[in-house]
Amino acid sequence: MIRIGPYRPDQFAGVDALWREAFPDDPPRNRAEISIPAKRAVQPELLLVATDHDDVVGSVMAGYDGHRGWIYSLAVRSTHRGRGLGASLIGEAEARLKGLGCLKVNLQVRVANQAVVGFYSDLGYRIEDRISMGKALDG
Ligand SMILES: CC(C)(COP(=O)(O)OP(=O)(O)OC[C@H]1O[C@@H](n2cnc3c(N)ncnc32)[C@H](O)[C@@H]1OP(=O)(O)O)[C@@H](O)C(=O)NCCC(=O)NCCS
Repeated sequence: MIRIGPYRPDQFAGVDALWREAFPDDPPRNRAEISIPAKRAVQPELLLVATDHDDVVGSVMAGYDGHRGWIYSLAVRSTHRGRGLGASLIGEAEARLKGLGCLKVNLQVRVANQAVVGFYSDLGYRIEDRISMGKALDG
């Protein structure tokens, strides 16, 4: 049975394995040993994990900064894709953001991962006329 709930510390190894599978090209700052403790310090209830019995099979991270909500790190184990779990994780993240008063949610898709745009379009996300910029503060 699949359940979605807030991350628990005993799920570290499962989430780490999931992210290594789903995001093999992510920079070191996105690794579980860095991202999870940081998220546990800020809105920990917005790091959600899907389990099949006790196995970690999906995750999503969200944040609300008082103006916008953001969604990150959506991942489903390859063994569990195509059954609606990705959509359920987004739905749960959206519900929690809405519960905090969030009026709009944003997310980014890497250019190399354009295939996933159709997935988000089906969930109501639209490509917006923006140039995405970022700056690393850890270097
Ligand atoms: C994106 C992801 C979370 C979707 O999880 P999922 O559980 O398979 O999603 P769902 O079952 O809810 O939806 C699947 C639908 O989205 C489509 N889809 C999902 N990912 C896709 C992809 N990478 N390429 C093409 N189509 C994709 C499927 O074709 C399917 O459509 P259908 O129902 O019409 O057949 C999963 O593919 C994944 O973990 N990918 C690797 C990590 C990643 O790219 N995350 C997103 C970062 S922005």
